[in-house]
Amino acid sequence: MKLDEKNCIITGGAGSLGVATARLFLNEGARVVLVDRDRDELHRAMRALSSDKVVSVTADVSSPADTQRYVATAVERFGPVDVLFSNAGNFGTVAPIADYPEDVFDAVQRVHVKGAFLAAKHAVPNMRNGGSIVITSSVAGLRGDAGVYAYITAKHAQIGLMRCLAKELAARAIRVNTIHPGPIDNGFQQAVEDGLGREMGIDGTDFFNRLIPLGRHGRADEVARSVLYLSSDDSSFTTGTTLTVDGGMSV
Ligand SMILES: NC(=O)c1ccc[n+]([C@@H]2O[C@H](COP(=O)([O-])OP(=O)(O)OC[C@H]3O[C@@H](n4cnc5c(N)ncnc54)[C@H](O)[C@@H]3O)[C@@H](O)[C@H]2O)c1
Repeated sequence: MKLDEKNCIITGGAGSLGVATARLFLNEGARVVLVDRDRDELHRAMRALSSDKVVSVTADVSSPADTQRYVATAVERFGPVDVLFSNAGNFGTVAPIADYPEDVFDAVQRVHVKGAFLAAKHAVPNMRNGGSIVITSSVAGLRGDAGVYAYITAKHAQIGLMRCLAKELAARAIRVNTIHPGPIDNGFQQAVEDGLGREMGIDGTDFFNRLIPLGRHGRADEVARSVLYLSSDDSSFTTGTTLTVDGGMSV
């Protein structure tokens, strides 16, 4: 098994990519701490995963106190952390720059950028040498699109954070990488497409499919397999990289 006895934290753990990754990690022998701010969805995820090797913590990743609490829980329950999967996310809105709401911009940076920063800040001192940090960026971290100011800015910023961490933590053989999913067939992306469809008077799903060379949306389990690759020794000489799982959309 690729993650036998490894202690893993997954933020955004109640969501689509979080649960798919947790399921795969558990099948590979890991112990998992699921972190999410949505208590009801966390309970649902815990029921679906139904394993004595998973615990959940209700926490807001943008809060320093909550971050310290979920890292402490991971260490108390399982021991030093081997894998940090920083994956919590929100989308914001789409609007021309002059109309883009400042509070929405701030709220999106808080989750993706500050959240991933705080996760690393508090997890790293509690990580075993040789561990792995994976941050979920997006195809939106590799290209620009008019109007998507908060999300695209945040997803680019995560690459900067990843590169700094990769340099600092190489001395401890802790590898740090970002993963860049394209549009995934799930509720998060559907909400984006519904909004875009209303805004532009088009079929948002069809619009995205035409941007993807492979001609379809991805599945959560396809992303999870790439997260497993970056989290396990299969990628033992890979750090500081941006791994796309986007059907070619960023090409
Ligand atoms: N779905 C896609 O098409 C797609 C594509 C590229 C990247 N992503 C990224 O993948 C990640 C996971 O998204 P998903 O598709 O599973 O969506 P999702 O909405 O199913 O999951 C996101 C989870 O993050 C949680 N969350 C949001 N803000 C939080 C906070 N402040 N503290 C703690 N938890 C918080 C939500 O409650 C939710 O459970 C996100 O970072 C998203 O930006 C998604």
